[in-house]
Amino acid sequence: MKIIAGNWKMNGSRDALETMVQDLASVKSDNKVILCVPFTMLGAKSGRVAIGAQDVSAHTHGAYTGEVSAKMIADTGAKYVIVGHSECRQYHGDTNSVVRQKAELALANGLTPIICVGETMDEKQAGKTMAVIESGVRESVPADVNTDIIIAYEPRWAIGAGLTPTSAEIAEAHTLIAKTLSDMGLAGTPVLYGASVKGSNAAEIMSISNVDGVLVGGASLKSDDFIPIITSVK
Ligand code: PGA
Repeated sequence: MKIIAGNWKMNGSRDALETMVQDLASVKSDNKVILCVPFTMLGAKSGRVAIGAQDVSAHTHGAYTGEVSAKMIADTGAKYVIVGHSECRQYHGDTNSVVRQKAELALANGLTPIICVGETMDEKQAGKTMAVIESGVRESVPADVNTDIIIAYEPRWAIGAGLTPTSAEIAEAHTLIAKTLSDMGLAGTPVLYGASVKGSNAAEIMSISNVDGVLVGGASLKSDDFIPIITSVK
């Protein structure tokens, strides 16, 4: 079984989510499907699809206008939340330590955090990919967790760009992440690959060892694009 997670980013509507849920209802697959949607769509009926948010406040409650807490997300029935997405690191300045705080609050409220790590193009060109990935995992994952977290390796330069690393590069990154998690006592934690996943490359990417599923942005918005990814692997 693989995990196929969609990230709608700031797209869609409640109607679009209802249509997607209906379209997914008839898909024959044992894979776990998660849709991470904007806050306004949380709480919708979602059938067999698990729902997640895309970010969470690093604070528990109080005077943080515009922010949404982990407890509030859990209150909608959502089960997952993405933390440390490249766009939150880039536009909101989320550092590994903020990401870790967010992941801790998610866990404390019964949500599974999908913790994103990955290198920028500058870091890649400077030969720092492996170091960034390893420190991302070590510094963003809360201490004292069991395996109720998901890691997503998303090379930041490849997101939304139609670019993907080579299979060898993905394998190298995922092997390092699996080893790091194992060193941290978290062997068995699922690790997803994300960035420019589509129907035509999903099966190949998910055949790489230590790739337990995918995190899909653009291609998760329409069922014609998303369903082939879900059904590309058993
Ligand atoms: P993409 O986005 O599939 O559109 O590249 C992935 C993500 O940002 O999670």
